[in-house]
Amino acid sequence: MIIAITGTPGVGKTTVSKLLAERLGYEYVNLRDYALENDIGEMKGDELEVEVDELAYNFERDFKGKDVVVDGHLSHFLPADIVIVLRAHPRLVGERLTERGYSKEKIGENVEAELVDVILVEALEENENVIEVDTTGKTPEEAVDEILELIEKGVKKRVGLVDWSEVYDEVIPYLRL
Ligand SMILES: Nc1ncnc2c1ncn2[C@@H]1O[C@H](COP(=O)(O)OP(=O)(O)O)[C@@H](O)[C@H]1O
Ligand SMILES: [Mg+2]
Repeated sequence: MIIAITGTPGVGKTTVSKLLAERLGYEYVNLRDYALENDIGEMKGDELEVEVDELAYNFERDFKGKDVVVDGHLSHFLPADIVIVLRAHPRLVGERLTERGYSKEKIGENVEAELVDVILVEALEENENVIEVDTTGKTPEEAVDEILELIEKGVKKRVGLVDWSEVYDEVIPYLRL
């Protein structure tokens, strides 16, 4: 089974994906590393620009039928059996990306994207089986337990969990207004 873990940068994809892969005994794949290793996409400054069709085509050829957890903010464009969209309070996204030394512009872009559900909407356009998991106030282990429970129960779709418009005021300092 191919499990895609997607979400805004900073929500916890890499942490959760590695732990989930370990718990399931699945292979862990970082999608950015996979693209770089396979010469898919081009570096523009320090950003990797990828043609998603090419990425999906290559990924399907290499991983179809295998058990893999694939980590990346473009993983919902892959032919996955389940797409998990991780969510986190946009303030956490802002704090984590600040800690990573991202530019104000990049931080603003990502806090805004989390605020208005950009990745969730994209994932729903691409896939039937989309499960949203809010990591806010949970440990990575708790988030992984929740994912495992949903998978074990055979839940295929669960969306509409969060509404960050309620916390808009708390993240105004991060926004590019
Ligand atoms: N419930 C949680 N799930 C995932 N990460 C969490 C959680 N709570 C705190 N964190 C922390 O948030 C950060 C998430 O970073 P990372 O996993 O690299 O995110 P991403 O890959 O989405 O950019 C890590 O420092 C991690 O320890
Ligand atoms: Mg990551």
